[in-house]
Amino acid sequence: MGRLRIKLASSMPAVKKLRAKNGPTYKVNTSVKAKPDSGEKQRGNRDIDFLMPPRGMHDVLPADAPVRDKVVEASRRMAEFYDFAEINTPVLEKVELFKRGVGEKTDIVGKEMYTLRTKGGDKLALRPEGTAPVVRAYLQHGMHKLPQPQRFYYFGPFFRHERPQAGRYRQLWQIGLEIVGGESDPVYDAQIIVMFYRILEELKTGPLSVNMNSIGCRVCRPGYRTKLVAYYKGKDVCKDCKDRLKDNPMRLLDCKKESCQPFKADAPSILDSLCSSCRSHLKQVLEYLEELGLPYFMNPTLVRGLDYYNRTVFEIFPDGEDLALVAGGRYDYLAEMLGGRPTPAAGAAMGVDRIVDLMKGENPKLLQLRIKKKVFLVHIGDLAKKKSLPLMEEFRKASIPIRTSFGKDSLSTQLEAANKNRSDMALILGQKEVYEETIIIRNMETGVQETVPFSKVVDEVKKRWRS
Ligand code: HAM
Repeated sequence: MGRLRIKLASSMPAVKKLRAKNGPTYKVNTSVKAKPDSGEKQRGNRDIDFLMPPRGMHDVLPADAPVRDKVVEASRRMAEFYDFAEINTPVLEKVELFKRGVGEKTDIVGKEMYTLRTKGGDKLALRPEGTAPVVRAYLQHGMHKLPQPQRFYYFGPFFRHERPQAGRYRQLWQIGLEIVGGESDPVYDAQIIVMFYRILEELKTGPLSVNMNSIGCRVCRPGYRTKLVAYYKGKDVCKDCKDRLKDNPMRLLDCKKESCQPFKADAPSILDSLCSSCRSHLKQVLEYLEELGLPYFMNPTLVRGLDYYNRTVFEIFPDGEDLALVAGGRYDYLAEMLGGRPTPAAGAAMGVDRIVDLMKGENPKLLQLRIKKKVFLVHIGDLAKKKSLPLMEEFRKASIPIRTSFGKDSLSTQLEAANKNRSDMALILGQKEVYEETIIIRNMETGVQETVPFSKVVDEVKKRWRS
């Protein structure tokens, strides 16, 4: 495989955790203690514990909205450009879907899933990931009858009962791209990778590192698994790895424990065991990436923690960090695992919380971004107040955001509110203006005021924004 640029994980830069300071900031009343999970030791003032969100979950406050909007809008633009259609699946799904699709022995399903039993007796799970639900929807709605492949994108919350730490939340938000149906064509794998890479570039999250691997197929993976088990047999691995050796030997390569690293480093490489069609598939994916000028590392220990993958797996990290921003790969067998016909597919998901944390750390000024210009309506007297609602409707029809504070009456308090709201312009409507059918436009930065006809105010505001 002449063109592969091989760089092993062990030679990658030392990896650190995302800085905790980039995590969400909680304004906590110091008399309120964080509420431990049920089942964990109860401490603190129980009377007011309910004022804290559940452990590992956090509020998305309005101050974060501009950054999150940027992430979502950049992704949506990219998805729509490449003809991906939005799909929204329920937050709750049957537990069985994830057991079959993601794998009962995976950490995500076996250890981290939030499950509940409904009054009717159904066993449901808060979805820990989005790929199995998308494929379920594809099968349920007979989407194989539509032109193939079908392309989907989604944005929503997912739930994993992980140990909370910087960049690891129990309610996490993902943006996902999935290409389902058609051929097992390497061009789709490359397309998903480049789309996320370019989204991250646009968001200026800093230098990126794309880790690539192939985990083979039904033909070549069993042989590799046997070699791996033979290699690990008798080695003094950690307790988790002892379980992996029995349940899911490929995950031995995913162990992060220091004591297991030397075993990992000398383990046989899957790249030497790929069958000819998996080798050719990988080679083509990498050639597409090279054609796109997209740098990557080969990481033969990258196996991913979900059972549905075959062939391509990849993760995109901020350079030198160990929490992936995007992860995914090919999953040609998932539809069959769920009882459908063979349906090649590829996709990935991006962790929105991690990206927002990173962007806040890299460029805290983003938080003060005013994405939209704002107009504030100041009304003085009852007559002006009456005119306010119809006037706001005119602005709504013109899609211009306008704020007001109906509860405040004096000019100065309303102008103060306009200032606090960081409005660009205030529209001042007093008794005199109502009689003269005019309105004052005040530039909040310069303080310059102009009187314009009331009936033309929307156009006058637009004119000033354009200039
Ligand atoms: P995943 O690797 O489990 O893959 O998650 C994808 C991304 O979600 C991660 O790279 C990370 O950015 C973010 N993420 C995961 N767990 C957390 C967490 N606890 N806190 C914050 N962010 C997190 C999947 O979920 C697959 N469904 C991806 C996929 C789509 N594969 C094919 N299509």
